[in-house]
Amino acid sequence: MLLNHVSTVFTAYLWQQTSFHDVVALEIETFWGALASQRLSWISPFNTVQNCNFSQGKIKWFEGGKLNVSVNCLDRHVHTCPERVALIWERDEPGTEVKFTYRELLELTCRLGNLLKRLGVRRGDCVTLYMPSCPLAVASMLACARIGAVHNVVFAGFSAEALADRIRDTQSSTVITVNQGVRGGKVIDLKRTVDQAVQNCPSVQQVLVAMRTENSVAMTDRDVPLEEYVFSYQDGDVFGCMADIGWITGHSYGVYGPLCNGGTTVLFESTPVYPDPGRYWETVQRLGISQFYGAPTAIRLLLKYGDEWVQKYDRSCLKTLGSVGEPINREAWEWYHRVVGGGRCPVIDTWWQTETGGICIAPRPSDPDAEIIPGMAMRPFYGIKPALLDAKGEVLHAHDSTGALCISMAWPGMARTIHNDHQRFIETYFQPYPGYFFTGDGAYCSKEGYYQIVGRLDDVINVSGHRLGTAELEDVVVCTIKCVYVFVVLKKGVEVQEDVLAQQLREMVSRNIAKYASPDYIQVVGRLPKTRSGKIMRRVLRKVVERKTDDLGDLSTLDDSEAVHEVIRGHQRLH
Ligand code: PRX
Repeated sequence: MLLNHVSTVFTAYLWQQTSFHDVVALEIETFWGALASQRLSWISPFNTVQNCNFSQGKIKWFEGGKLNVSVNCLDRHVHTCPERVALIWERDEPGTEVKFTYRELLELTCRLGNLLKRLGVRRGDCVTLYMPSCPLAVASMLACARIGAVHNVVFAGFSAEALADRIRDTQSSTVITVNQGVRGGKVIDLKRTVDQAVQNCPSVQQVLVAMRTENSVAMTDRDVPLEEYVFSYQDGDVFGCMADIGWITGHSYGVYGPLCNGGTTVLFESTPVYPDPGRYWETVQRLGISQFYGAPTAIRLLLKYGDEWVQKYDRSCLKTLGSVGEPINREAWEWYHRVVGGGRCPVIDTWWQTETGGICIAPRPSDPDAEIIPGMAMRPFYGIKPALLDAKGEVLHAHDSTGALCISMAWPGMARTIHNDHQRFIETYFQPYPGYFFTGDGAYCSKEGYYQIVGRLDDVINVSGHRLGTAELEDVVVCTIKCVYVFVVLKKGVEVQEDVLAQQLREMVSRNIAKYASPDYIQVVGRLPKTRSGKIMRRVLRKVVERKTDDLGDLSTLDDSEAVHEVIRGHQRLH
């Protein structure tokens, strides 16, 4: 698990460096080998850089080597700059941020690590974290890594059943939580959810409970109270990854990447619209964020509120704007670039997945001459070798083609297995295209060799014999199903006649893509069903359109079930 973070460390490092030309030319193995030796402290050095075989699903990196990622994130920097700010906890209530130095974070991590050991947590055991983004959660992750335990971070918006599933799957003996979470001004009873979940999890022996709010909670014999912590302040470079630590982006770019590089990271507890839609930019101004890393769903949401919420705040500290999680459509890209970045900051559309551990395709902010095209993830990251394959499994050699996005060589941060199910790992990622890692996404590669993600392959639809990616269509309007069925969310305050809008959208799609892609149906909705990480749940929309509402599938990651009911009611009214 520790080595999974190696390539994250490098990609995060690239956000901070000015030139990388000298390493580009090196061979892949030399590249990863050199970075691993230079950028990490090893307990024992590795013998081989890699020993991977995709057809066997064998992923082995740095064999013989031993390191501790918590030592790399903390101790290394405490030796040289103990008072540098490691974390800025941007709490729900604006203006109440808390800063943690590397020294303080190391102390907290060691205290927690020792407590976990005293409570019987051993190397290889799994500890489940059900906590909001907060310093104690980061210290808990690092404490697990320090003592060789595996952390299973469950997003703190998940239900008791979803949490119980994940605790049972990992056979965790220990859960760490807080009494209550606070998000968007609302108090959420996290401990109560844990209490419900562990009723059905016989493996759980103890629940460690920290106090996020002052409200007391019922404690049982199984519960262990955790004390509160200290903080201080020092200026420094500030990495503002807005993702919750319950998602991979929060792991790789909120915690391990920035800390391993000795950077200062912001932990965002709140929402982009609390107390108002200026929250992100007010935070940027107040904390001096230099790299802002957010999701297209949030950008699309904020642009609906207008430019004044951004322009109110000084954003001169911003250097780079990152986007991740979904294709960023051109309108959102341009708004992010022009309004948020004032046309001055490169927008970095970064493509990657939980399985890849870190960024795989992205423009390079470190190269001032690098071309960036809106809505394109652009070029493979150093050491990543993408390949596009057609339906017959043939590699598409010519540029200017669209196919299944695969990766032909291993890299250190990639997943090495699926917990308790290695066969599923092989079947999902290596069997669809033998010899390649299959990402599940479709991509277009331009004549110049630039990549554009066209969406999940299961979202690609076949209309009149043509394959259409949802991203491509969404760029012009925004969703599609077999025949093209478009769901439209209007900007705040916009009022249009629906038939006029429908006519305009049909013309736009015909003009910008093709006549065959023109939407057959258009439904205006107040909001779309989304996962708690902000991805639109297209498979649910597809079921609504297919009138299979009694078979909506797994909704455990759905953020707000009312959004589905609204879409269903609207659909019934129209048809
Ligand atoms: O479909 C791609 C989309 O998100 C998927 C990975 O989701 P997850 O494992 O939750 O990780 C999200 C954070 C890395 C991918 O298979 N995706 C991610 N980034 C982009 C993207 N689609 C288009 N452009 C991106 N920049």
